[in-house]
Amino acid sequence: MSAQPEDQVQIFKLLFGASWEDPSSDRRALRIRPGDCVMTVTSGGCNTLEFLLDDPAHVYALDINPLQSYLLELKCAAIRHLDHRDLLAFIGVSPSETRGGVFEVLAGDLTAPAAQYWRSRPDAISRGIIKAGNYESFIRLFSSFLRVFQGKRRIDGLLQCETAQQQQAYFEDHWNTLRWRLLFKLLANKWVLARRGLSVDYFKFDDGSSSFSESFLRRARHAMREIPIQTNYFLAQYLLGRYTSESIVPAYLLEANLPVIKQRLDRIEIVTAPAQEWLSQQPASSIDCFSLSNICELMSPEETDRLFSEVARSAADSGRICFRNLIVPRGVPEPLQHQLVLQEDLSRELLAQDRSFVYSRVQAFVVKKDAV
Ligand SMILES: C[S@@+](CC[C@H](N)C(=O)[O-])C[C@H]1O[C@@H](n2cnc3c(N)ncnc32)[C@H](O)[C@@H]1O
Repeated sequence: MSAQPEDQVQIFKLLFGASWEDPSSDRRALRIRPGDCVMTVTSGGCNTLEFLLDDPAHVYALDINPLQSYLLELKCAAIRHLDHRDLLAFIGVSPSETRGGVFEVLAGDLTAPAAQYWRSRPDAISRGIIKAGNYESFIRLFSSFLRVFQGKRRIDGLLQCETAQQQQAYFEDHWNTLRWRLLFKLLANKWVLARRGLSVDYFKFDDGSSSFSESFLRRARHAMREIPIQTNYFLAQYLLGRYTSESIVPAYLLEANLPVIKQRLDRIEIVTAPAQEWLSQQPASSIDCFSLSNICELMSPEETDRLFSEVARSAADSGRICFRNLIVPRGVPEPLQHQLVLQEDLSRELLAQDRSFVYSRVQAFVVKKDAV
């Protein structure tokens, strides 16, 4: 018997109100062509929406968590019905006092379980749905501690750096303090994350909490020194708890892109299912691009092998894959590596330039069907 909507709300938590993976990396790895069929992991829905800019014929947005599907339903309804200014206000980029009323207008577009879920979360609607997940709640906690530990002037100074040289000098001379390093020990550990519902089991942080905070400190250092800071809307959220401006936001929210996104919305098909099971039901050679997020870290090695063998079977020849690791090393099983071929140079570049910066691997693969 399948779970009823009320049960699902009990079992699942909305973990992400926005996507925390740099869609530019996925778009470079996937090279989506007009007419392509794309499979992606829904999560916060932002990347699914951004892929529409590359003109795919169809985008399957999969998530095992029905609440992430309900989030994407609501984002689609908002994009369909609102103009740019009202869209930014409703989802939480700009201020608004009227989100509850706007939701009632959009609710008619939602499936019954999605409407029911959002009616049970008036707090999330009035805060703005891009801030509604447990991860965003952790980011707010982090950025409020950061303001105390580093001070507003120092944060503003970092965000004003215009060149890599300025960023590196600022990081070494002003930012890399004992308090900065202490902040990671205090907040980026498994106990604090677990209290936000981002449980250790969810992420399978099997390298322990101390190496966890150390490894994230190293990744933050890389983002602050090496990745252009003024266009990094991921880092802005960790530093400020919000985007720096309405023009430095995910590309699907840019005014110039909104008409195209609106026009192509119907190409998205939202599916609530485990990716590995759903893929096993797809015809052979039917999918051109796979954006797999880091879902394998939530699976056993055996399930990971199953996922990749279904990817190899359902992928079209010359298909492309983008795949991430956060903590737990997972990857294409050895027997499939001649069919799912790692693009080593591109993967190195993607990892170095990825604005979402917390990942240990961002990898691009190409599918070679004749290498079976
Ligand atoms: C792997 S998590 C990681 C979050 C991600 N790093 C981000 O920035 O959005 C992304 C989503 O994958 C979903 N997920 C986990 N395992 C899955 C599976 N086997 N099939 C489909 N979705 C899955 C989770 O519910 C979550 O919404």
